[in-house]
Amino acid sequence: MAERDTVLHSWCVQAGWNAPTVAGGRGARFWDESGRQYLDMSSQAECVNLGHQHPRVVRAIQEQAARLCFVTAAWGAEPRARLAERLLEKSGFEGGRVFFTLGGADANEQAVKFARQALGRPRGAIVTRDRSYHGASYAAMALSGDSRTSAQADPAAFPVRRVPPPYAYRCPFGTRSDEACGAKAVEAVGQALDADPDAAAVLMEPDAGTNGIVAPGNFWPGLRRVTREKGVWLIADEVMSGFGRCGEWFAWQRYGEEGRPDLMTLAKGLTGAHIPLAAVVVSKEVAGRLEQVPLNTGLTYCGHPLACAAGVAAIDAYEEEGLIARSRALGAWLFGRLRDLAARHPVIGDVRGGRGLFAVLELVRDRATREPLRPWPEVHPALAALARRALDEGVSFAVRGNLVVLAPPLVIEETDLRRAIDVLDRLLGDSEWS
Ligand SMILES: Cc1ncc(COP(=O)(O)O)c(C=O)c1O
Repeated sequence: MAERDTVLHSWCVQAGWNAPTVAGGRGARFWDESGRQYLDMSSQAECVNLGHQHPRVVRAIQEQAARLCFVTAAWGAEPRARLAERLLEKSGFEGGRVFFTLGGADANEQAVKFARQALGRPRGAIVTRDRSYHGASYAAMALSGDSRTSAQADPAAFPVRRVPPPYAYRCPFGTRSDEACGAKAVEAVGQALDADPDAAAVLMEPDAGTNGIVAPGNFWPGLRRVTREKGVWLIADEVMSGFGRCGEWFAWQRYGEEGRPDLMTLAKGLTGAHIPLAAVVVSKEVAGRLEQVPLNTGLTYCGHPLACAAGVAAIDAYEEEGLIARSRALGAWLFGRLRDLAARHPVIGDVRGGRGLFAVLELVRDRATREPLRPWPEVHPALAALARRALDEGVSFAVRGNLVVLAPPLVIEETDLRRAIDVLDRLLGDSEWS
């Protein structure tokens, strides 16, 4: 039977799902059963950071599978210990610890548990922002400010307090400067914390996220300041922004020590999606508070040796191939090209990102008034058609609402990146946007 008749697929109407079956991949390309090739301009779900089938990661998985597939966290596992050490080293969380999970949603849930437990506020409120995405499990939906799932979970019951986002292009505080919007968004977090003396943490994306908002540069350092002042933890959701996606190992590192969170969550690029794996990294202070108390949580597959072996190999690959710096350099080039496109295509209202190989085009009906092309999160038929025509030309772009999200594997060849942007340029010009 065909997959469309047997599988429930994510984030779509089942009757409308009819995708080709992917048979293989290599680097920034993958191909379907008919042999048709696609250039992956979104790294699937912004996760195949190392490209498809990275040989080093594949080999590490094969070797670990031959040695030892599984033991629970009640036993030690060499790749688990090695990966934790490498993550602490890369993040500079000296004296911290790592808890492994299976995906971004459960990493965020566990991070909230640890933050609450370490502060002695087992049901303390968590401050998050509107238009954020932290996953699709129940707690992660409560944490997320995502209109697609908001009816399914009750943030007040969790409890979660939402604040408006640092969305400078459509600033919810009515400002028109990036700096002013960032400052106002930080102020709103401070007010939410003042209103809730039992708050335990602020959980936010430091840079790239599913909803395509890229915060102004003063936002994250401001969050760090205000969370410290108010005595709550700062949790960085680095599920999408980590592992070079935003030009650093972890996006907060752009701000140096000023930006260091108390906890951070990782997934996606951690293994380059070769095997599901996620992690919560906690600071020395948080780890110290958890040292002598029972950690009443766990997952059967916590720190699965196969996945951890893939994680170690992935970190070696990012490091030895210089992929973090490569992402920064290609991201700057990409951003420049997109700005050039914006100068020629009035449908482009805003271009953001570009700190690494992550950039967003926001399309508008009217550039002067910034009227959205379609109400969020609807997709304009011309944009859906653009994505289909690009596929016909062998380029796979991610489209969300009015956004084109560009996040290719960090190993993409420059000629491929150039070709993909040329295709986008031509199709933007050929489309009928009215
Ligand atoms: C910032 C962020 N957090 C959390 C998640 C959820 O991760 P997962 O789908 O692995 O549960 C995502 C997924 O896109 C994400 O972008």
